[in-house]
Amino acid sequence: MSIINKAAAIGGGVIGAGWVARLLLNGIDVSIFDPDPEASRKVSEVMKGARRAYKQMVPGGLPVEGRLTFAKTIAEAVADADFIQESVPERLDLKHKVLAEIDTHSPANAIVGSSTSGIKPTDMQVAMKKHPERLVVGHPFNPVYLLPLVEIVGGEQTFPEAIEVAKEIYASIGMKPVVIRKEIEAFVGDRLLEAAWREALWLIKDGICTVEELDDIMRYGFGLRWAQMGMFQVYRVAGGEAGMRHFMAQFGPCLQWPWTKLMDVPEFNDELVDLIATQSDDQAHGLSIRELERIRDDNLVAIMDALSKQNKGKGWGAGALHKDYTKQLAKLAAKKPLASKAGEKAKALKPVKKAEKKKTGKKKG
Ligand SMILES: NC(=O)c1ccc[n+]([C@@H]2O[C@H](COP(=O)([O-])OP(=O)(O)OC[C@H]3O[C@@H](n4cnc5c(N)ncnc54)[C@H](O)[C@@H]3O)[C@@H](O)[C@H]2O)c1
Repeated sequence: MSIINKAAAIGGGVIGAGWVARLLLNGIDVSIFDPDPEASRKVSEVMKGARRAYKQMVPGGLPVEGRLTFAKTIAEAVADADFIQESVPERLDLKHKVLAEIDTHSPANAIVGSSTSGIKPTDMQVAMKKHPERLVVGHPFNPVYLLPLVEIVGGEQTFPEAIEVAKEIYASIGMKPVVIRKEIEAFVGDRLLEAAWREALWLIKDGICTVEELDDIMRYGFGLRWAQMGMFQVYRVAGGEAGMRHFMAQFGPCLQWPWTKLMDVPEFNDELVDLIATQSDDQAHGLSIRELERIRDDNLVAIMDALSKQNKGKGWGAGALHKDYTKQLAKLAAKKPLASKAGEKAKALKPVKKAEKKKTGKKKG
């Protein structure tokens, strides 16, 4: 059950709107600030898609949605929020400006999560002159309302307690928080994705395969394995009865062979962009982005639903969490709206009090 009374979303693009959808569908009121005059329309498009997906997840009826208000300033959006998620474009100067405003105008004990894909929290929290200790990176994956993973990263000034509260907050809205042990650029998820993306760009640029063929190689092959077991457990099984040690012995030497171009970056020019974009247009066969989003969402719900029935009905991996989350939503839906709000208020966020905490100079591992 959620421990957030009132949330604020700063930035309502692809990711910000995804956060708004997850929060509202959990019955949490959200105040949003986004200077884009089209923001309201864009957020409502994402909400439509999210509602559609959640109806499949909880066929018995969804919880009463939280109320969404569009604020005119950051100050207004964060004034009474106990959880704030920043999702503005990936530019350090802009993150600084926005985080400084959030810090000035929000309650001191509100947790501030940043959706950044790769900027270190230490580099962002320098702009927060009052309470930098409550900033964490809460890096989600698109679509935020469906994919449960959130990477949590603390900076040098982040209190371990802020990381603990952030974990509770994200878990309370059905997510899987994973705390990254050391602060590095791009964290873990985007390190892996960028490595794969570099290789993919080389493979297309060098004419080895097309965009569509590359995607087929993933989705008919190892992509299916990754969704249910990840990388290492899959390789353990691939080692046969001798397991991981045999796998390492067999494939370790390949690391020295020319199997990757990882550290070479293909030149990012118009020619490469045209090549990829044109092949991607062909691959889409005229389907719009919104149509592709619906197909993606239906598939993701179906995959998590299938995994929720595995492991003798206990669910496996993301499926086990999905099972709990859909149960939690159904339970919330069964409550009367007033009772539900009162229940949430009673579980108000524990404040992160500076006086009680010791600055460690390190984030919690
Ligand atoms: N797109 C992804 O797949 C993805 C995944 C995970 C994390 N992220 C991260 O999330 C963040 C947002 O990315 P996105 O893809 O949603 O970008 P986006 O361009 O879709 O949205 C950014 C939004 O921020 C708004 N904005 C600009 N200046 C603002 C300000 N001063 N105050 C409030 N809002 C402002 C813009 O109007 C826009 O609506 C970035 O840090 C990005 O790295 C993106």
